[in-house]
Amino acid sequence: MLADKDRIFTNVYGFQDWGLKAAQKRGDWDNTKDLIGKGQDAIIEEIKASGLRGRGGAGFPTGLKWSFMPKESKDGRPSFLVINADESEPGSCKDREIIRHDPHKLIEGALVAGFAMRARAAYIYIRGEYIREAETLQKAIDEAYAAGLIGKNASKSGYDFDVFMHRGAGAYICGEETAMIESLEGKKGQPRLKPPFPAGAGLYGCPTTVNNVESIAVVPTILRRGGSWFAGFGNEGNHGTKLFQISGHVEKPCVVEEEMSIPFRELIEKHCGGIRGGWDNLLAVIPGGSSVPLVPAKDIIDAPMDFDGLKAVGSGLGTAAVIVMDKSTDIVRAISRLSYFYKHESCGQCTPCREGTGWMWRMMERLRTGDAAIEEIDMLQQVTKQVEGHTICALGDAAAWPIQGLIKHFRPELERRIHEHNAQFAEAAE
Ligand code: NAI
Ligand code: SF4
Repeated sequence: MLADKDRIFTNVYGFQDWGLKAAQKRGDWDNTKDLIGKGQDAIIEEIKASGLRGRGGAGFPTGLKWSFMPKESKDGRPSFLVINADESEPGSCKDREIIRHDPHKLIEGALVAGFAMRARAAYIYIRGEYIREAETLQKAIDEAYAAGLIGKNASKSGYDFDVFMHRGAGAYICGEETAMIESLEGKKGQPRLKPPFPAGAGLYGCPTTVNNVESIAVVPTILRRGGSWFAGFGNEGNHGTKLFQISGHVEKPCVVEEEMSIPFRELIEKHCGGIRGGWDNLLAVIPGGSSVPLVPAKDIIDAPMDFDGLKAVGSGLGTAAVIVMDKSTDIVRAISRLSYFYKHESCGQCTPCREGTGWMWRMMERLRTGDAAIEEIDMLQQVTKQVEGHTICALGDAAAWPIQGLIKHFRPELERRIHEHNAQFAEAAE
């Protein structure tokens, strides 16, 4: 279990004030000038050495991503950092806690990360529904400006750096990095084709890196304590500490910072008081927010909670939003509800996603009531394969994977419903 001294987010429960003075007492903004003084290349190397992988869901190596940014400005074009605070993945609520209780870690991280990638400014794109959090964040930004920590000659480093907050308007798809860039530019939030990746052509056509809130907020601590300190946690290729958000049928749902790779059972026992009704009552877990496949109880219990450990059991770490379902769950209804979510949130730009998400949801609703033919289970599986990998952005995959997980692990339950429905129909016809 992670020792208190190794926690980065020491105010994640909001026991202390989030404001600048209290944040400084906790160690934030402590000689930020010295961190910047390490130089751009040294900062990027330190982040690479820490093994930090993107905390927004995809797990792309953060230092490597920063290294794609140009060292020289072409045609005088500035570079930008965009911070993704459009946290909308069902089950995810960690970035909200950082912004509520530790906003200065994010703002200091924005400055240091922005400096490392030679960015002129950071845009923090915050989920529209996070109304109070946006107020807190704006106040924290204002405090940092007033104290000379950001802006002209930020933290007396000689580097000019601005931080802007931009509020979203409720579309899940604006969390996709290129849709976010479109939205920031004032256009309809629809994903762009990649490549080019944002580092080549991002915000206003300028080099841009999009990073998640947690990825940026851990940067100052990593630089102060050293990349090797961060790399000392977790299994090979899955390093660091991580905010887990555990919801559903546990005794005590919570957001907690833990060591990466902690086994699932240990995470739940130590921080959530166990599974409601005991471990025999566990049915399945969606370990990384709704965009990753569910894992049945027997496969998840000993799994290391990290990118590779969860991949090995057919799922993923995603945002580490751990949704726990006990045996009282109507698993078909739960997955059907997620299908509705993806249908509703599809931006409609590509046909397999626009048509497929609606088709999959309608099919899921029929399977929920059993009003389907057995062969339609395989047909649904085939449709998920037609959507997966055939769309502009990952929303198509995200809509397909939960259904694939359901069919893989709960086919007997789907068949049972169909048989039961048919038997009732036959009885009524007699
Ligand atoms: P991705 O794997 O396409 O990209 C990840 C990052 O790496 C992006 O910033 C991308 O630009 C960069 N990248 C990848 N390959 C690159 C290359 N060859 N050159 C340069 N840069 C490259 O994944 P994506 O679409 O950004 O994120 C999908 C994940 O987002 C899902 O796994 C899901 O878990 C998560 N997600 C999180 C949400 C949230 O609320 N935090 C909401 C929805 C999804
Ligand atoms: Fe839009 Fe869906 Fe295509 Fe993504 S996959 S671009 S959400 S239609």
